[in-house]
Amino acid sequence: MAEIKDTLTNAVKKVKMRNLKVSMSKCSVLSYLAIKGNTRTFVKIAYKCNITMGKDKLKRFEEMKHFPNVYQNLDFKNPGLINHQEQVVDMKGKWKKDHFKNDNPLTLELACGKGEYTLGLAQRHANRNFIGIDIKGARIHKGAKDALKDGLANAAYLRTKIELLDEFFAPNEVQEIWIVFSDPFPKDRHAKHRLTAPNFLELYKKICSEDAIIHVKTDSELLFDYTMGVLDGRGMKYNVVERDIYRKGTAFPELTEIQTFYEKMHIEDGRNINYVQFKLFQ
Ligand SMILES: C[S@@+](CC[C@H](N)C(=O)[O-])C[C@H]1O[C@@H](n2cnc3c(N)ncnc32)[C@H](O)[C@@H]1O
Repeated sequence: MAEIKDTLTNAVKKVKMRNLKVSMSKCSVLSYLAIKGNTRTFVKIAYKCNITMGKDKLKRFEEMKHFPNVYQNLDFKNPGLINHQEQVVDMKGKWKKDHFKNDNPLTLELACGKGEYTLGLAQRHANRNFIGIDIKGARIHKGAKDALKDGLANAAYLRTKIELLDEFFAPNEVQEIWIVFSDPFPKDRHAKHRLTAPNFLELYKKICSEDAIIHVKTDSELLFDYTMGVLDGRGMKYNVVERDIYRKGTAFPELTEIQTFYEKMHIEDGRNINYVQFKLFQ
């Protein structure tokens, strides 16, 4: 604890001296220490960091409120969606008709971050609809802004917790799900939070059509092996498995052509990227 405090105190001195921005995670640690340590310095630090982070984020949040391709659920306890006109809208079962104005198949990108797959797939498949979903508005902002700039009418973004998917999608509404570099949650006791855990597969079944395909792409051997184990344990077969796609190649160009923010970092670190595709209903 003392060591962390020293490191953070130094980091904060730098922030104060040079007015540097610090990462959100550092802010969270600082805020935590401010509470735990109960020292004036840490309270000041946390305050300072949050203000520094806040300005830019607030600007993005404000801008995103008016994006016609973004829907936000701002209350997880009483889920509801707000559109770009700040109206409460019910999109469940109506995404294709009310938002996309067509009857094309719908793909979700879960834990989309900056939404590169939603964007990249929407550019490649004009005859499909895509929705990127993430809890973090500041990340979605990037994908949504790029989609608007590119005039991609078949790409939209939804800010919510993935756990609430069945609040916003009706049975059979979704035909495909991409899970790209989702958090591996390495501790066993957190396994239920992995997006390929049985509880999540059951959730996806509530909103997906019988022919729905799930794509999982990850650098995490743990998450990959876990996913294969879940399939095996449920007697489910995979359609495709490709390991180490950047070194061994892939039969699906979009797997290497579309790279996410996290993926680029993993590639730089020389990590293996693995891919598995399976049918949800078997
Ligand atoms: C490791 S990042 C990957 C982001 C992106 N797919 C990429 O490859 O750059 C994981 C993302 O999952 C989101 N996330 C984690 N748990 C979530 C949840 N329960 N509901 C919605 N989003 C979640 C985080 O906000 C974060 O953006």
